[in-house]
Amino acid sequence: MKRAIPCLAATMLALGAWLGSSVTACASSTQAAPIHYDAGRRTFRIDAGKITYAFGVNGNGALQTLYWGARLMANDPLPTAAPPAPRSSFDPAGANTPQEYAGWGGPITVMPDLKVHFADGNRDLVLRYDSYRIVDGTLMVTLRDKQAGVSVVLDYAVDANTGIIGRSARIENHATQAVTLDRVAAASWNLPPATDYSLRYLTGTWAGEWHLRTRPLTPGATELESRRGSTGDENNPWFAIGRGAEWNESRGRVWFGALAWSGSWSIHIDQDVLSQVRVTGGYNPFDFAYQLEPGQSLDTPVFYAGYTDDGIGEASRLMHQFERSRILPAHAQLKLRPVLYNSWEATEFKVDEAGQERLAEKAAALGVERFVVDDGWFGARNSDHAGLGDWTVNREKFPNGLKPLIDKVHGLGMSFGLWVEPEMVNPDSDLYRKHPDWVLNFDGRQRSLGRNQLVLNLARDDVSEHIFHVLDDLLSHNDIQFLKWDYNRNWSEPGWPQQTPEQQQKVYVTYVQHLYDIIRRLRERHLGLEIESCSGGGARVDLGIMSLTDEVWPSDNTDPSDRLSIQDGFSYAYAPAVMMAWVTGSPNWVNGRSSSLDFRFLSSMQGGLGIGANILQWTPAEDATARGYIAAYKDIRATVQLGRLYRLLSPQERAPHSATESVATDGRQAVLFAFLRQGQEAQAYPTLYLQGLDETARYRYRLIHGKAANGTPEVASGAYWMHRGIDLELRGDMDAAAAVFERIGKVANGSR
Ligand code: DGJ
Repeated sequence: MKRAIPCLAATMLALGAWLGSSVTACASSTQAAPIHYDAGRRTFRIDAGKITYAFGVNGNGALQTLYWGARLMANDPLPTAAPPAPRSSFDPAGANTPQEYAGWGGPITVMPDLKVHFADGNRDLVLRYDSYRIVDGTLMVTLRDKQAGVSVVLDYAVDANTGIIGRSARIENHATQAVTLDRVAAASWNLPPATDYSLRYLTGTWAGEWHLRTRPLTPGATELESRRGSTGDENNPWFAIGRGAEWNESRGRVWFGALAWSGSWSIHIDQDVLSQVRVTGGYNPFDFAYQLEPGQSLDTPVFYAGYTDDGIGEASRLMHQFERSRILPAHAQLKLRPVLYNSWEATEFKVDEAGQERLAEKAAALGVERFVVDDGWFGARNSDHAGLGDWTVNREKFPNGLKPLIDKVHGLGMSFGLWVEPEMVNPDSDLYRKHPDWVLNFDGRQRSLGRNQLVLNLARDDVSEHIFHVLDDLLSHNDIQFLKWDYNRNWSEPGWPQQTPEQQQKVYVTYVQHLYDIIRRLRERHLGLEIESCSGGGARVDLGIMSLTDEVWPSDNTDPSDRLSIQDGFSYAYAPAVMMAWVTGSPNWVNGRSSSLDFRFLSSMQGGLGIGANILQWTPAEDATARGYIAAYKDIRATVQLGRLYRLLSPQERAPHSATESVATDGRQAVLFAFLRQGQEAQAYPTLYLQGLDETARYRYRLIHGKAANGTPEVASGAYWMHRGIDLELRGDMDAAAAVFERIGKVANGSR
């Protein structure tokens, strides 16, 4: 059976060599990142980046977490694995062991990773250590319930630079009877016992994604999840847990992680009776059942996690670095996001050749590098009531096909992109009239619509082959560089009537595997093709889809003030390198708020800059402003997209101020954005203290927009900008400023 997510091992670590009674896998990168097995103590130890992770086999044969935190010294002794002492008859020996991967069986009371039932009615599964190997740098530990005939192979792949570990599991049925998996996690992460943890997580809804929430971890469970069939925006599969009251942007112990899965998922966070915290993530057990016949197996998604001593800001930067260097496709030569134009907010479904050509000419004149035709170019698509599924060019709108427009766009020096929503069908479409059985449904039951559309059952081989061929054809016959891949509703009635009742719920896994396969095959056949993951905004952003796409659309909400919070929330988990942000019309269509073009540009320049306004209506003065910002953006985008992000002032909870700083990977440039949503009384804007500069270097600053306080030096040391800071003069409502700091040399003598 194929792995759902590409294994990281080959890119992460090279195979080590036997060293006496222990084995070590050494990093292929500059930093050593050994996986070490101590046969005497039966312990595994991983050292990577600034972390050490350790687990061992205890006297009962269970695999038990020993340590996860800051890097230890090579010779530091680790405790031998021993289960916690029994507390009472209700918490007997083995009930609360912080197992790396627990089967539901025996006396356990902690959340199991794997819960099964067998054809003969047995539901008891006790997983015990069997063996390990290191293959291409990935540690693979096999657990087994010999009597039941079930094995689990745990994978541990380590990123030498960030210390982020990717864990997944393969469940194998070696029994002579079928086994049904009722609950399957990728991994559990165990944190040391404490009563002062708090959890940060992301919640949202359409046009209001990426709200950061914090809650104390108390005895009892917190479930972050999606039951929607896809990632969803109600929760995002990311978490961060900090210790004590003091953890903040730059201080405190933080454990964090994210699940690489674009289907229904769950991250279950539990504090048990011993105050141990356990984070279990994987397929959502809700409505889940995956039957394995003898000889069959199932792979889980990868659950990534990391640790830092340096606060949530550093946790985010580690995630960003990891995503750029290990998750995104073609990460070795990660491309900067081109400035794009998208037609949606300007023309909605009323796209046609002449209108799009006019937009393209104007966009090119402003400095845009990619022109994207959004919804409405195909089938009978004049509204959201019809046409989805019929991916042939609408000849009334484009009488000569897409070629004349594409040629025009290319002639203007831009790449060409097209909107698609391949997984959906309108009942009013030729595809649905021909194949009404291709959608998710239960025989004879209602088929609930969302945006007048139904979900095609990609788990079916014929459906996924059809989608692949339609897109392959589209890309083969048109010179397209970019697809905006949209997905605009949740699942409902997720039946698969063509399967036996025992197999139907495999839809939750097979659908997503097929989706990933389609994208992977398209990318293989159309080298250079870039894809944006969009789901009516940010409802499908996760490390799974990210490993196959180049950018994501965080929200349909393009109001530049709301966007400050949206982009801030997004940045906790995901990199600015993939976060697209458009400048659109004012007043904004979502909330009617008016804003200046300056504010809209500066808000959007915090990510991959796009323009989504009707630029044909812009005045010459607005054109000039736009041209200026687009040119300025091209100078700073490498820093914004690939640099180290510091969140200086948080816009969460409708705070009046927001400020971020990005420092280029080579340290030569820093970019500062500052926003004032609403001024109060005569209050000055807070002094901004830059971070991440070289104290002993000199930096010259210039403003892209805004005003600095009188007396602000043009050149000063990194120490000055970080400790004295800069005062910007922002006033009134919806004001913004941006400044660039260029490193111009060392401070003379380097003295203070
Ligand atoms: C939802 C997307 O988020 C929008 O940007 C736009 O592409 C529409 N779908 C088109 O139907």
